[in-house]
Amino acid sequence: MSARSLSKDQQQALLDAARAAQLKAYAPYSKFLVGAAVLDDQGRVHAGCNVENAAYPEGVCAEAGALSAMVLAGGQRARAVLVVGTGGEWITPCGGCRQRLREFCAPDTPILTASDVAMGPQFTMAQLLPGGFGPDHLEAKGTKP
Ligand code: THU
Repeated sequence: MSARSLSKDQQQALLDAARAAQLKAYAPYSKFLVGAAVLDDQGRVHAGCNVENAAYPEGVCAEAGALSAMVLAGGQRARAVLVVGTGGEWITPCGGCRQRLREFCAPDTPILTASDVAMGPQFTMAQLLPGGFGPDHLEAKGTKP
């Protein structure tokens, strides 16, 4: 799906779901609440929030939660993603989440950004993770150079 073919209604549904998820975030350590939403190949929206942990590295990002919800519901591909930052700041997915998203996105999959008060800029998967490693590379497994 190109960025242009994402309807206003779909964008609004992603924004509403991500903002609702953000309100549920468990981020007592960073106080940085994040919400994410994924539009799947069946037109459904799945959301996630960040869930931190007293053992800091064990916290999980909002995008990971949204992807997990998509997979649990039987979704196979992410057609669009939206991430909401906090404190008036829009954010892009962290490096680890770019790789997580790469698994389910096409190079031209739109990744939308927003803050808790406004939309931010829009990117594609390939812009955020150029030349990324993905499932397609594993199709060559077993061959020798
Ligand atoms: N965080 C996300 O949930 N997604 C991102 O893409 C960036 C960072 C969370 C992790 C942590 O709970 C908090 O934001 C501050 O890093």
